[in-house]
Amino acid sequence: MRVLVLGSGGREHALARALHRDPSVTDLHCGPGNPGTAAVAVNHQVDPTDPNAVVELAERLRTDLVVVGPEAVLVAGVGDALRAAGIACFGPDAAAAQIEASKAFAKEIMRAAGVPTADAQVCESMVDVEAALDAYGPPYVVKDDGLAAGKGVVVTEDRDAALAHAAACDRVVVEEYLDGPEVSLFALCDGVHAVPLLPAQDFKRALDGDEGPNTGGMGAYTPLTWAPAGLVDEVMATVVQPALDELRSRGLPYVGVLYAGLALTSGGVRVVEFNARFGDPETQVVLDRLATPLGGLLHACALGGLDPAVELAWHPGAAVTVVVAAEGYPAAPVKGDPVAGIPEAEAVGGAYVLHAGTSLDGDGVPVTSGGRVLSVVGTGPDVAAARAAAYAAAGRIRLRGAHFRTDIAAKAAAAG
Ligand code: AMP
Ligand code: GLY
Repeated sequence: MRVLVLGSGGREHALARALHRDPSVTDLHCGPGNPGTAAVAVNHQVDPTDPNAVVELAERLRTDLVVVGPEAVLVAGVGDALRAAGIACFGPDAAAAQIEASKAFAKEIMRAAGVPTADAQVCESMVDVEAALDAYGPPYVVKDDGLAAGKGVVVTEDRDAALAHAAACDRVVVEEYLDGPEVSLFALCDGVHAVPLLPAQDFKRALDGDEGPNTGGMGAYTPLTWAPAGLVDEVMATVVQPALDELRSRGLPYVGVLYAGLALTSGGVRVVEFNARFGDPETQVVLDRLATPLGGLLHACALGGLDPAVELAWHPGAAVTVVVAAEGYPAAPVKGDPVAGIPEAEAVGGAYVLHAGTSLDGDGVPVTSGGRVLSVVGTGPDVAAARAAAYAAAGRIRLRGAHFRTDIAAKAAAAG
């Protein structure tokens, strides 16, 4: 099977590694990929959000399956264009990807499907915003309706800060605050059926102790040893399958990952958000543990033939990833700084380095080209061991002004 992965981040490096391990994947390509994917795939210079360019590349490579990483690619209609050209694509059409791209659409699907989520109001004016903030009370949750790479959300006790964020949004959604730990669950969907992957936890804030601004994600781990038994079955029955059925009933069969961002609140499981793609950096740890060949699964989804009874196999043990971010991330990451120490990091037992925001300079040296530069993965028999490996490796990266959180998976590691 010839496979083309679209995107250039740590998630795509993780996807490429997992696909490379699948013996049915004979030919692996990335568009555009990154210096890390070049080790396991052939990189092609292409704008992944340009549907015509992607179709042309996929046809030229005689691709059997295109796997889409980023949401922007989906929203640009690349899935639609590939399917129209008769090329199997793992990733929904643009209309179905609105489940991520429009918070208002996601809320409408959840309302119609009876999926538990935070109460929310779409506000048309600042008068509406003030009324909604006062109706829910602090902490205030203010979201930009459109795509914002995880950075369009402000959660704050400060009413003035909430108002200031609302004033800067195109269209504002004000929500009830959800307490409790967050869980990311990815379901592989073929339009009708869905199969869950292992749940993971992501760390969205930039700084230790969940301080600082929201980011795309600063680290992740799996498995969630503390999660209640039955959580995955409950989420599949009350969240994923109803949402999939609702989309299908609207003529929007959903093919790809349905990513349920969940809060385990005192009142039960609630959906914080849906995403239309694999999460980054959760994918790095989830795919590390997956023993079932990934290519066959994604191909079955793309062809509408996923076996809903398939029992996925998982490697025992745990994986933790720590994101090494560029100076200035998330506000204004500095580009072009040399990144050293990757071989030394990979010399740590159980650890390896995924490229996320790097490119090669004229001398072939990796330099920063994005805010999240590397996703350092540690593995081990349990979360504590995996975490130790990830931090030992992250500490060997040499990048001027780099920063990473020091508390990824700390609570889970301490709980055993
Ligand atoms: P989103 O872009 O909707 O995923 O939001 C990004 C992050 O903001 C989430 O992962 C949560 O940490 C936080 N967040 C979003 N909505 C809420 C909410 N209703 N209550 C509490 N935290 C939230
Ligand atoms: N890690 C959060 C996301 O991918 O949206």
